[in-house]
Amino acid sequence: MLVKKPADIQPSEITPESVYRRRREFLRTGATLLGGGALLPGLALAQQGDALKAAAPADLARTPPAPWWEGKFAAIEPAPSSEPFFTSEALTPYRDVIRYNNFYEFGMNKSDPSNRSGDFRVDPWSVEIAGEVARPGRYHLEDILKPHALEERVYRLRCVEAWSMVIPWIGFPLADLIKRFEPTGNARYVEFETVVQRDSMPGVRSPFSIIDWPYREGLRIDEAMNELSFLAVGLYGSYLPAQNGAPIRLVVPWKYGFKSIKSIVRIHFRKTQPNTSWNDLQANEYGFYANVNPEVHHPRWRQDTERRLPQNLFSRRVIPTRLFNGYGEQVAHLYQGMDLARHY
Ligand code: MTE
Repeated sequence: MLVKKPADIQPSEITPESVYRRRREFLRTGATLLGGGALLPGLALAQQGDALKAAAPADLARTPPAPWWEGKFAAIEPAPSSEPFFTSEALTPYRDVIRYNNFYEFGMNKSDPSNRSGDFRVDPWSVEIAGEVARPGRYHLEDILKPHALEERVYRLRCVEAWSMVIPWIGFPLADLIKRFEPTGNARYVEFETVVQRDSMPGVRSPFSIIDWPYREGLRIDEAMNELSFLAVGLYGSYLPAQNGAPIRLVVPWKYGFKSIKSIVRIHFRKTQPNTSWNDLQANEYGFYANVNPEVHHPRWRQDTERRLPQNLFSRRVIPTRLFNGYGEQVAHLYQGMDLARHY
């Protein structure tokens, strides 16, 4: 977030979201095609015709992180057609979603996560559940995901750097996972931690690294239990690319993007508010709550407007920013009586 670079959009590039949209339409019209099959190369694409196949980006046709993922993606519930789990705003093209990223473990430029994450390993993957819960332990990701049906949610993502995207995620509600591990009455906060893979993460090895790894984030337990809080394992119908937080990441769409921590290996239920990476680094710039708020400005970025990506020389696509990123109906009650300028 310390470095800002304009998007480098090539208008001539294929926009895979059209492929995705047609798949989505296909699914919604009740075709017999398996929901998840739509995302697995060959099966769905073959059924939808060669034109579609030709237009499919290579990234969507990659092999799953492990064989069991195919089964997991074999049935995905499409997003409903209305807010808050869906928005009819134009989707950000796939290529921008996977090439314009913040993932400081791979470097500080927007293109670093996609260019420098080739050695990142997601198999095997486990997640430790710790702290104030009845069932702590280290769980293989397959066991973490097993009971959860995957669904799609189309959310706005608003970065504190004042750019935004609209992304179709695949995943499941964070609340469902939390309930399974039975937090105790003392669990007032949930802390999340990202993996540290020194050998595959150039940003972690860098002498210029500004973050004290691992990257950490946190939510109040009632925020974590909110219906919008989502654990994503995919986007645009396919597995999460490394640069977007493979194999599992948080998505909290009413908060600035830095709360949506990637590549999670630890979920810790705590009595007290956890330390979080950006807040530790610069508390006067990055608050613990980090709710999208057009009236509370960051010292370097005004927050009342945002640049909806992609943009180019001819179209900057600046739009007004909404309180809670437009999700006030679902989350405003969480902050009743709080001074949002103080608890930014
Ligand atoms: N998670 C980790 N582990 N490391 C990071 O650097 N960056 C955050 C968030 N999650 C970050 C992270 C920021 S600043 C943003 S805006 C979003 O990821 C960006 O998500 P995206 O790259 O998938 O758009």
